Amino acid sequence: MKRPKIVVVGSINMDLITETPRVPTLGETVLGNRFSTLPGGKGANQAVACARLGAEVRMVGCVGDDGFGTELIENLRREGVCVDDVEPVPHVATGIASIVVENGDNSIIVVPGANHEVTVEKVRRAEQMIREADAVLLQLEIPLETVAETVRIASRHHVPVIVNPAPAVELQADILREITILTPNEYELAVLLGKHPEETEDFRSLIEAYPGTLVMTKGGDGAYYRDGEKRVAHQPGYKVEVVDTTGAGDTFNAALAVMIGRGRTLSEAVQYAVAASALSVTKFGAQGGMPSHEQVEAFLAQTGE
Ligand code: RIB
Repeated sequence: MKRPKIVVVGSINMDLITETPRVPTLGETVLGNRFSTLPGGKGANQAVACARLGAEVRMVGCVGDDGFGTELIENLRREGVCVDDVEPVPHVATGIASIVVENGDNSIIVVPGANHEVTVEKVRRAEQMIREADAVLLQLEIPLETVAETVRIASRHHVPVIVNPAPAVELQADILREITILTPNEYELAVLLGKHPEETEDFRSLIEAYPGTLVMTKGGDGAYYRDGEKRVAHQPGYKVEVVDTTGAGDTFNAALAVMIGRGRTLSEAVQYAVAASALSVTKFGAQGGMPSHEQVEAFLAQTGE
């Protein structure tokens, strides 16, 4: 099986996770169940997931010159991700995410810290590496101009570039045009098309409004996707016992990138990605449940697909 080369340009965070029976309202205090400190960040999560799925992964990112930074680099290295382009930045704090988990669902506040230092110059220095990649994977927890420049570099070298537009922002049309596959959830799709998420009921019309290739994730309902002019297709989700949904989107994006890097069709890639992300929610922590390629294959075989 082909071992695709994936370059991930993105964030690296330490996740500070509180499990609670109930999220407090403003001004209220509740007693939580448990606190954990675990590696996270959309970029790092996607890099780890790609590596577990059998890709050769290079990460471009930044941490601070603190204990979290050292731990996070070590974690990436242990997972087999190449960290030659992960830089500890002096006098800056490593990015953190404050995560509250209630009944398996989460809310997150990210303080980017060193992730702000993933500059355009840094990604330009990685041009050769991007050029040699089978796919490039991006999210939006680093400066937008860096995301835009990475998309331009990948597109110039005809390398498929997958952008996970999270957290939600409106993206410029010239960048959208050069993205190979965009992977928003329903909320992010509305925002990036300049709509009000609360006022948008029909996600199919939003998918149809997007001119390029788009895969919209929809939690337990799987994913909806559209390739160029074709109709919107649906890959249903798989029934699993949900422990923690943190990192499900990251696993999905990584799996999609790995399959695109292996030269598989969009529908094959989406099915594999939905299966991988279903497995990821069965364990705690963003990276805790990320499966290996063998686990995804076994899961698909067991579900009869
Ligand atoms: O997608 C999940 C990730 O979002 C968490 O690991 C957290 O760090 C935030 O970046």
